[in-house]
Amino acid sequence: MRLVLLGPPGVGKGTQGRRIAGEHHWALISTGEMLREGIARGTGLGFEARKRMEAGLLVPDDVMIGLVKERSAADDARDGFVLDGFPRTVVQANALDSMLQAREQRLDVAIGLDAPREELVRRLSARRECPICKRAYNLVSAPPRNGGDCDDHPGMKLVQREDDSEPTVRKRLEVYDEQTAPLIDYYRGQGRLREVTAEGSVEDVYRRLLQALSC
Ligand code: AP5
Repeated sequence: MRLVLLGPPGVGKGTQGRRIAGEHHWALISTGEMLREGIARGTGLGFEARKRMEAGLLVPDDVMIGLVKERSAADDARDGFVLDGFPRTVVQANALDSMLQAREQRLDVAIGLDAPREELVRRLSARRECPICKRAYNLVSAPPRNGGDCDDHPGMKLVQREDDSEPTVRKRLEVYDEQTAPLIDYYRGQGRLREVTAEGSVEDVYRRLLQALSC
């Protein structure tokens, strides 16, 4: 299965993508994670991406397309992958179609997740992660067991992502509306879109996601 998870910041693409990829042994290709790794390791890619990410803007299409082209050709992605955060523009969606076509493959489904704006802002302002293992928490919906420490790394304080400050979140939502939301119609036009409401618990959303994949 080759699957795209589409939706605004905070809708749960990472949360649901990790789970569905893990349970089905599909590769998880999260472009945001790849960029953050690049920043942490001080690579050229990280250097190029950092300022734009911190401002809530998209990284240029050619950089992202090159990254996904290489990652999606890796061995672990041969039997399937979940794309979280890519494509984000029509240019990227066209490039994905062409790269799969060149490999005689195709995208199976694009899942469009959505939830009310204020819920997205609430989720993102409560998101925290462990700086060591990157395990994701939410102070409201998925808090750590012990105050502000990672469950798996006692004593390690959880941190907030640089781009999760409220003004940057609002900018990211604006960028989503302008540049990424048109992909809903793009995939609807291809007959590949399945829309899933991302309100309710993580478990509820996961159930709906599985249902959408089986129809
Ligand atoms: P990226 O990391 O992809 O960020 P994003 O799309 O803004 O998405 P988020 O990671 O913020 O949210 P999510 O939908 O994954 O939600 P999550 O599961 O974490 O990209 C970051 C930046 O990188 C971009 O702004 C851009 O600059 C650059 N970039 C990346 N890809 C690019 C591309 N293709 N082209 C150009 N630039 C690119 O959940 C959020 C929180 O809510 C968590 O705390 C979670 O625990 C909680 N939560 C999840 N589900 C629920 C639920 N059902 N109920 C309650 N809480 C929930």
